[in-house]
Amino acid sequence: MKKQITIAIDGFSACGKSTLAKALAAKLGYSFIDSGAMYRGAALFFYRLGYVSDKHLNEEAIQKSMQDLKLRFKISGSKNCLFLGDENIDNEIREAHVAGIVSKVATIKAIRIQLVKQQQEMGANGAIVMDGRDIGSVVFPNAELKLFLTANPEIRAQRRFAELQGKGIPQSMEDVKSNLTQRDHVDSTREESPLIQVEDAIVLDNSELSKSEQLQWVLELVNKRRESV
Ligand code: CDP
Repeated sequence: MKKQITIAIDGFSACGKSTLAKALAAKLGYSFIDSGAMYRGAALFFYRLGYVSDKHLNEEAIQKSMQDLKLRFKISGSKNCLFLGDENIDNEIREAHVAGIVSKVATIKAIRIQLVKQQQEMGANGAIVMDGRDIGSVVFPNAELKLFLTANPEIRAQRRFAELQGKGIPQSMEDVKSNLTQRDHVDSTREESPLIQVEDAIVLDNSELSKSEQLQWVLELVNKRRESV
């Protein structure tokens, strides 16, 4: 039997990390975790409590209620969805009010500590594909395969716009573009685990690749890696 490995996928906003990670996990029979969904879930929780908005951030209040943040993935219908307590929040976390504040919330150290711990527990047995911003650098620094995804900003905005439209979440192209630019800036410049391209990551610019071409390219890498570890 081939060795089961850990696959870490990091990269900029909306460059197809989750699409690739999900397809890869399905093909390999691995678990897939969208770590960004967890940060979005945390942002929604604190937004509802009134501790964060596009205008303010109450770090102290957030830290005090960290233990009440209960996020988990659960199958609903045929989909693996994010739940906050017993509520399926998988759609709401994609909406503009969450996208607009998530990067600000993700700068908070206490949140990162709690979510990283949960992510590490989920990946403790390997056979997992996780995507995010700090997976290869912080969550799984020993992952056997690390990918860093990138794509042309114009193409990324078009893909995200189409994705949101498909989910019935209306947002103008202009708003999508400015949200991606703003999040990339905050994510790359924050003090706590910023988005970086780690030395041992393989870079994939998927601007010109279809989903299946991208999957094929990565599967070849995975197979080589599984033979060599
Ligand atoms: O899907 P998209 O690439 O637009 O973003 P996401 O993966 O859903 O992540 C949403 C936000 O969560 C990011 O912009 C980061 O601010 C934060 N995040 C993070 O800080 N660390 C992670 N491992 C994953 C996401």
